[in-house]
Amino acid sequence: MEFGNSVIPILKSAIRNPKSAMSNVLLLSGSPAKQSRSNTILEYVIKRLNAEGIETTLLGLRDFPAEDLIFAKYDSPAFEPFKASLNAASAVVIATPIYKASLTGGLKALLDVLPQQSFRKKSVLPIATGGTASHLLAIDFAIKPILATLGASDIQQGVFIVDSQFTYTDDGGFTLEAELQERLDAGISQLAESVKQHIAR
Ligand SMILES: Cc1cc2nc3c(=O)[nH]c(=O)nc-3n(C[C@H](O)[C@H](O)[C@H](O)COP(=O)(O)O)c2cc1C
Repeated sequence: MEFGNSVIPILKSAIRNPKSAMSNVLLLSGSPAKQSRSNTILEYVIKRLNAEGIETTLLGLRDFPAEDLIFAKYDSPAFEPFKASLNAASAVVIATPIYKASLTGGLKALLDVLPQQSFRKKSVLPIATGGTASHLLAIDFAIKPILATLGASDIQQGVFIVDSQFTYTDDGGFTLEAELQERLDAGISQLAESVKQHIAR
C-alpha cells in the first residue's frame, strides 16, 4: 500500500456503507523519517489485518503540512481526512519512535489537533521503537496518558522494540527476535479480534 494514499477510498466506502467503514483500522506512524522502522512495522500490521478481511488506512507525519502541525491549526482542511478516518475506525495502531524518552513531537502535534474524545470506543495497539531499552516505559508514561485523555476505551499493553532487536530485510520487510515477534503478533490478533467483535455487533 502506498503510504498515506488510502484515505480517499476509505471515505468513499464510508459513504456507501457506514457499518463496514466502522470496521476499519487506522494506523498512525509517528516517524518523520522516510525509511522508518515504525512505517515498516505498520506495513506488516496492515498485511496481517488485511489477511483477516479488515480494511486499513495508513497515515504518517509526512501526510500533513508541517506548518499546520507546528502551529496546531486544528481547523486546517488538511486534517479533515485524518479526522474522518479516525472517526470511521473502530481500532487504531500507533507506531512511534522514541524521541527524548517520549513519542515524537510530530506525533504529539498530530494528536493535539484532535477534538476531545476522538478515541472513544476505540481499541488501540501502541508500538514504539527506541535505541535503548531504558525508555521502555515511555509507552506507559508518555503514550498511554494521551490515549486515555482522548477517550480510548481499550488500550493494549503495547510492544516496545529496541533497534538491536529489529533487522531490515532485503525485501523491505524486517525480522524481530522470536519472543518479540510473538508479542507483536499477539497484539495484532487481539486487535483483529476486537474489530471483528465490533463488526458482529
Ligand atoms: C531526535 C532523536 C531522538 C531520539 N531519542 C531517543 C530516546 O530518547 N530514547 C531512545 O531509546 N531512542 C531514541 N532515539 C532512537 C530512535 O527512537 C530509534 O532509532 C527508532 O527506532 C527510530 O524509529 P524510526 O526508524 O521509525 O524513525 C532517538 C532518535 C532520534 C533521531
